[in-house]
Amino acid sequence: MASRSVLTGVGSYLPKRVLSNAELSRRVDTSDEWIVERTGIRERRIAADGEKTSDLACAASVKALEAAGRDAKDIDLVIVATTTPDLTFPATAARVQAELGVSHGAAFDIQAVCSGFIFALATADNFLARGQAKAALVIGAETFSRIMDWEDRGTCVLFGDGAGAVVLEAREDAADRGVISTFLRTDGRMHDLLYVDGGPSETQTVGKVRMVGNAVFRHAVEHISGAMLEACARAGVSLDDVDWFVPHQANQRILDGVARKLGIDVDKVVSTVALHGNTSAASVPLALDVAVRDGRIKSGDLVLMEALGGGLTWGAALIRV
Ligand code: ACO
Repeated sequence: MASRSVLTGVGSYLPKRVLSNAELSRRVDTSDEWIVERTGIRERRIAADGEKTSDLACAASVKALEAAGRDAKDIDLVIVATTTPDLTFPATAARVQAELGVSHGAAFDIQAVCSGFIFALATADNFLARGQAKAALVIGAETFSRIMDWEDRGTCVLFGDGAGAVVLEAREDAADRGVISTFLRTDGRMHDLLYVDGGPSETQTVGKVRMVGNAVFRHAVEHISGAMLEACARAGVSLDDVDWFVPHQANQRILDGVARKLGIDVDKVVSTVALHGNTSAASVPLALDVAVRDGRIKSGDLVLMEALGGGLTWGAALIRV
C-alpha cells in the first residue's frame, strides 16, 4: 500500500505584544475604520526585542509535537517556510533543529513568501512519499515587523508576526487520511508587485516590504481560486466535498472575493485575519491550529488550504486530517 503523509499534530505561537489599529493610526495617516473596512484587520502581534523567527518557530513546534504525541527524536526532516530568517545563513531550520533537539535528517528553509507553508507542505509530502524521511516538522514562521516600513501606511497596517507548525508522518495504514493533492505555481514576471528592496547580493542591506497592493489584490482572487479548483481536480473531488477552507490570511476582502467567485459557504472558511493580520508563511498553519483547537476541524474532515504571495507564488493543498 502506498505511503500517505498524515497530519498528526498542529501547534502555533503568537508573540504577546498586540498592536491595535488605534495605535497604528497614531503613527501613520490611517484609521481603524479604513483598516477594518479595506482589510478586516483589527490587530496584529509584534515580536519582542530579541525574539527571533527561530524562537517563534520552536514555540509552535513544541506544541505541534505535543499534539502529535511525538518527541524531537522522532523527527527526521525540518522545513521552515520564512521570508524573515534569523540570519542570511545558516537556514533558520538549522537553528530550530538544534534548539528542539532533532538530531538526524535534513533541515532547510523554503522561501515562497506568503505561499511558503503550502510549498513546504508539498515538499515534505514528496520527501515522505519517496521514503526519504519518516516524520517531518513543517513550520511557517515570520517576524515581518522587522522588514516593515513603519512610515508606509499602504503596507504597515497589513502584516504581523507569528508561527504555526504541523507534524506530518509517513503512514502505510492511513486509509484515506493525509495529504491528497497539492498544486504549486510561480510566475516570476510579477516579482516587482511585491518584494523587499534589499538583500545581500543586490544592496547588502535587509530592505523593507514594497507592494503594489491593488494589483496584488486583483491577481490574488483569480489565482487562488484557480489553485483551489486545480487541487480538487487532481484529487477527483469537488469544492462541495470540502469541509473546511483554510486560506492564507491576507485580507478579509480576498477571502470573501474567493468564496463569492467559487460559491463557497463563508461559514466553512476559517478567518483569523482580524486578530493576526497577514503573518505571511505562518498564516495558514496558525489558522489551521485555531480551528483544530476550537473544535471546528475534526479528525476525518477534508481541508483545503491555499495561499498567494510574493514571486508571485501561489498554491493549494488538500488534506484529510
Ligand atoms: N489608511 C488610509 N488610507 C490608505 C491606507 C491606509 N492604511 N493605505 C492606502 N491608503 C490610501 C491610498 O493612498 C489611496 O489613496 P488615494 O486614492 O488618495 O491615492 C487609497 O487608500 C486607495 O488605495 P488602494 O491601494 O487602491 O486601496 P485598496 O482598496 O486596494 O486597499 C490594500 C489597499 C488593503 C493594500 C489592498 O490593495 C490589499 O489588501 N491588497 C492585497 C495585498 C496583500 O494582501 N498583500 C499581502 C501579501 S500578498 C497576499 O498575501 C495575498
